[in-house]
Amino acid sequence: MGTFSIPEVSLYRIKFLDDQHQELIDLVESLNVFVDTENCFEVEKIFGKLRDLLIRHFSDEEALMKETEFPDVAQHSVHHQELLVETERILTIILGRGSLTNHDIDECVNKVLRHMFLSDGPFNTHLHSIGYVEKSGSRQKSDENLHQLTG
Ligand SMILES: [Fe+2]
Ligand SMILES: [Fe+2]
Repeated sequence: MGTFSIPEVSLYRIKFLDDQHQELIDLVESLNVFVDTENCFEVEKIFGKLRDLLIRHFSDEEALMKETEFPDVAQHSVHHQELLVETERILTIILGRGSLTNHDIDECVNKVLRHMFLSDGPFNTHLHSIGYVEKSGSRQKSDENLHQLTG
């Protein structure tokens, strides 16, 4: 885990989603060692991981939004797409410059945190207001159950 932990108030208390949020922050923080090194190969690899994790997280989050009938899912999905575009834009700037700066990392951290605090906040409130409780066992377990049910 990196130096930044998600504040209690912003936790979904849904383990896999909270873990994904923390992983996203840790991944962006792992860029720190490459500041001013011109090691764009590693930086690009981390941005690749970041994109994959964002896509997986957005898909999981939006699935739970639909399952719990969160009314703003369409608008939230637009925010997700914008965040993907923004991270690609920052990577393009880094690759064009040939090195990573502290400012690039701050920008990434800010965009990811802003989304978690401001955009994910209303969904968190929604989950609390409907009394949503994480299903027992892991998501993998529920996937297994589904397979058993559907044969
Ligand atoms: Fe999220
Ligand atoms: Fe989100």
